[in-house]
Formats: sequence, C-alpha cells, structure tokens
Amino acid sequence: MSRVRIYPTAGDLADAVAQEFARAVEQHVHRGIPLFVALSGGTTPAILFRRLAQSPWQESISWRRVHFFWGDERCVPPEHPESNFGQADTLLLSHIPIPRENIHRIRGEAPAEPEAERYAEEIRRWVPVDETEVPRFDWIFLGVGEDGHIASLFPGSPVLEERKRLCAVATHPHTGQQRITVTFPVINNARRILFLVTGAKKSGVVREILKGEPTA
Ligand code: 6PG
Repeated sequence: MSRVRIYPTAGDLADAVAQEFARAVEQHVHRGIPLFVALSGGTTPAILFRRLAQSPWQESISWRRVHFFWGDERCVPPEHPESNFGQADTLLLSHIPIPRENIHRIRGEAPAEPEAERYAEEIRRWVPVDETEVPRFDWIFLGVGEDGHIASLFPGSPVLEERKRLCAVATHPHTGQQRITVTFPVINNARRILFLVTGAKKSGVVREILKGEPTA
C-alpha cells in the first residue's frame, strides 16, 4: 500500500516523519527487537537528521534499539563533504546516544567492488531475512533525483537489472563518481519505504511517478 503525504514545509515533513519514526522504535522496544533502517544520502534527509537530533527525539528515542545502514554511499572518505555517512554523522549520529556498533556505514574510502561485497555481507549478518532469503529492512529512507533515480540506481544503468546481489557499484551518469548502492531486491523487500522529496524542482518527477507514465 502506498500513501502520498504533502506538507506545507520541509520542516513540517521532518516533524511528521520524526514522530512516526519514534513510534516505530517504541513498537520495536516493546517487542524487544531492533529496528533496522537504511538511510538515504543527498541533501533532503538533512532536515530529518537535524530534527531527530533535537528535543524531544534526541533524548526520547531508544537509539540503542536502532541499527543504521545506508542505501548508498559515494566512494569518498567519511570526512569528505559528499559522504552520506559524514552528513548523517555530523547532523545526527554525533548528537544521539546510539552505540557505534549500531552504525553500519559503507566504507566509501575502500576499493568499490570488494566493499560492495563486504557491505552485502554486513547486511546479511545483521538484517533478518524473510522467506525470500533477502534481508528485510524495517525502514528504508530514499530521496528521488530529478531524473527519477533512487539510491544510486540511475536510469539506464545495468545495476537496475541486478536481481541477485544485494549491493553493487554504480557510476553517477554526469559526474562519473563511483557509488556503492543497494539493489532493487533489497529496496523492494523492505517493510516500509519512505521517499522524502522536497522542493519545486522535484515536482515534475514526482508527477511522473504518481501518474505511473514512465518516460524513459
Ligand atoms: C545520494 C542519494 C540520492 C539522493 C537523490 C536526491 O547519495 O545522493 O542516495 O539518491 O537521494 O539524488 O538528492 P537530494 O535530496 O539532494 O535532492
């Protein structure tokens, strides 16, 4: 089931998502099980990271029950300004009491292909699988590029066709930057996928997606 929620401002979106995320963590606390979450990169998640790092969420969410993974990472070191982990660490992770062992970053500084394999193994080690034997994240946050890409699954890329591997190396079509990304089998198997999309420049791609009339 998919739902579209429209908020007046990005701040309102962040407040609503933070509240829902807190509720999900609480449900997992009561069940005594962790919440496995894959974070998105790009600029949009920053509004949510900043919100979660503030009161009441900073102190009220049981962060030790949360395991953070990433849907993709740029092949840069964590301190690089384009690092998805680096952004999350600066805006959120360094402000909340989450055990460092619950933070499963993609090592953007490592050689890409071996790291894609290593990360797939890390996902398999932690994230429970379902009957399909594919690890099933509880929540996956995704942004949407103006070309409709999600994670680092860019239109026309052969990685879009990957149905076996959990992770793959991708290349940004304009910058040539190498990325490591989860593949569609992982995304499509998640219990919940949240697309956070803000800004007028995304209205066209969102309209295309919602109308279901793919152009490419
Ligand atoms: C990344 C993201 C990517 C992003 C979209 C939207 O690493 O860049 O995974 O898929 O979510 O490009 O980016 P913005 O939120 O910056 O518009």
